[in-house]
Amino acid sequence: VLAVFDSGIGGLTIARALRRLLPALPLRYFGDTAHLPYGDKSPELIRSFCRKITRFLLSSASGPTPDLLVVACNTASAVALETIQQEASHFSVPVVEVITPAVEEALKSTKNDHIGVIGTRTTIASHAYLKQIQTRRPLARVTEKATPLLVPMIEEGFISNNISSDVLEAYLSDTGFAEIDTLILGCTHYPLIAPQVEASFKRNFSRSVAVIDSSLAVARRVKELLEISIKNPVPSPDAFYVSDLTTGFAETARLFFGQDVPLTKINPDLLFNH
Ligand code: DGL
Repeated sequence: VLAVFDSGIGGLTIARALRRLLPALPLRYFGDTAHLPYGDKSPELIRSFCRKITRFLLSSASGPTPDLLVVACNTASAVALETIQQEASHFSVPVVEVITPAVEEALKSTKNDHIGVIGTRTTIASHAYLKQIQTRRPLARVTEKATPLLVPMIEEGFISNNISSDVLEAYLSDTGFAEIDTLILGCTHYPLIAPQVEASFKRNFSRSVAVIDSSLAVARRVKELLEISIKNPVPSPDAFYVSDLTTGFAETARLFFGQDVPLTKINPDLLFNH
């Protein structure tokens, strides 16, 4: 079983990539729809949510112990990784976050060692990508930019229209991006607009940029790890939990997973109020 969690529905882009690469592995997904967006919240609050979600997903009450926990949310990966790893260690479950695989792909891709990163406010304020890039390649330059309008825009289905193209233009015309040759999509939602990001960059700077979609990078990383370490693949049904359920979430889930997703609501009081 692969446990996957996110602040909400966006993490289904990661779940979808995992399903594509590892079709036989059951998924146990949790989207914290009662508390999203994480991208504007403080690291302290995000950590407290993440601790409880980790406990819920890995405890025997949810079924067989997962082989791996994937933190699909970039914001949680950026500010709560230690908390999540600490909690997961009680269950001896390894944790994969979404930042390292994307950074590794970006470093493989860049020729001029100048990488751009877009993400939520909290992700960008943490400098998690910048730190990881410069730990591996100290002289690399990194241009980071918070692009908070993209999440609600994509959830609204504004992916390829005038508004989405204006919003992308406004963000990506930042002169800090003029020299980058690689751009990391540092948020669960952005894979849905990868072609539009590429096109917008080209309009702004009259050349192309390599766009790094972390969902593919993460799925490849998980596959590598599982080939080494999978202990006991247990047949188990998929489960998709959310902490709040509305018709809007169900529709967004279809958009992000590419098919209907049977969402089950977990009472958030049971999970968060202790
Ligand atoms: N899942 C978040 C991320 O990848 C985006 C949505 C949110 O802000 O909760 O950063």
